[in-house]
Amino acid sequence: MEAIETRIEPADDAAVAEAARILRAGGLVAFPTETVYGLGADATQGAAIARLYAAKGRPAFNPLIAHVAAAAEARALAVFNAAAERLAAAFWPGPLTLVLPKRHGCPVAELATAGLDSIALRVPGHVVAQRILRAFAGPVVAPSANVSGHVSPTTAAHVLADLSGRIDFVVDGGPTPVGLESTIVACLDGDPVLLRPGGIARERIEAVLGRPLAAPRRPEAEGAPVAPGQLASHYAPRARLRLAATDVRPGEALLAFGPASLPGAAAAVATLNLSPGGDLVEAAANLFSFLRRLDASGAETIAVMPVPNHGLGEAINDRLRRAAAPRP
Ligand code: TXA
Ligand code: MG
Repeated sequence: MEAIETRIEPADDAAVAEAARILRAGGLVAFPTETVYGLGADATQGAAIARLYAAKGRPAFNPLIAHVAAAAEARALAVFNAAAERLAAAFWPGPLTLVLPKRHGCPVAELATAGLDSIALRVPGHVVAQRILRAFAGPVVAPSANVSGHVSPTTAAHVLADLSGRIDFVVDGGPTPVGLESTIVACLDGDPVLLRPGGIARERIEAVLGRPLAAPRRPEAEGAPVAPGQLASHYAPRARLRLAATDVRPGEALLAFGPASLPGAAAAVATLNLSPGGDLVEAAANLFSFLRRLDASGAETIAVMPVPNHGLGEAINDRLRRAAAPRP
């Protein structure tokens, strides 16, 4: 790929207008959402989406989420059943993505949906994302703004570290408040299915639906695009992760959680605590930036204390497992 100049601007009126202009011209714009920074392209321009896949080094079989400013725009692209309507009413704008049957004549490029007859849709709540989507006035596909397989970016600096020279523009709106990607729920035929745990806890979704979410039929297997997150070693830092650590071994960095201390912790190469008070929301917001910082400490291994699996802990543990998985 030929290097291009990547400009970065704080998220003011001029930057929002510039972002919309670049998107219309088929360019690539990174912008904050409440979950993580997204790398946006006009969802209707196949050539722009091809550039996006190339910039990320993303396997083209992995489909993208189309972002729109409001549920009414999402209804023009996909078919909502009763469950989808309830979830949209409860959680949009917000960190929820719905996978729905694509409408006949949906203008989103085939390349963005990887040839599936379903489409992933999200209405982000972040004020900067909202302003860019309204200024652009159309669907914007946006994967996380990182090189494929790296940790997702929660600051503009993370975006530049991965994508400088590969994208046109970064709108800097400060650190993202949720820190984990959106929860993905498929509302196709049959029961709603949790495809990816994320920024909205399973329990909150099940409370709105009045029933448990189903598990994907083919979790992680076969690289099938029906189940997202598919590549087991997604979200990987350079260092290896040792999960459920009950001690810290020589040369290790420590990713702590909660007030407890581990044997050997005093000798850790570097230590960051996701939430000393044991708050899972705070831990989610810190997860990706702390993984990056501990990775930068130079330690070969990061010992990770156990994180409870309820609430946002399910998504945190999902990302930690993927980060710990063997590399392809
Ligand atoms: O919070 C987020 O969701 C962020 C921000 C930027 O919105 N975006 C994000 O996108 O995490 P990405 O591309 O990193 O993850 C999108 C996931 C992928 O795992 C993909 O497989 C899945 O959504 N996906 C997209 N379309 C799908 C479909 N039609 N069926 C099943 N999974 C789909
Ligand atoms: Mg991603």
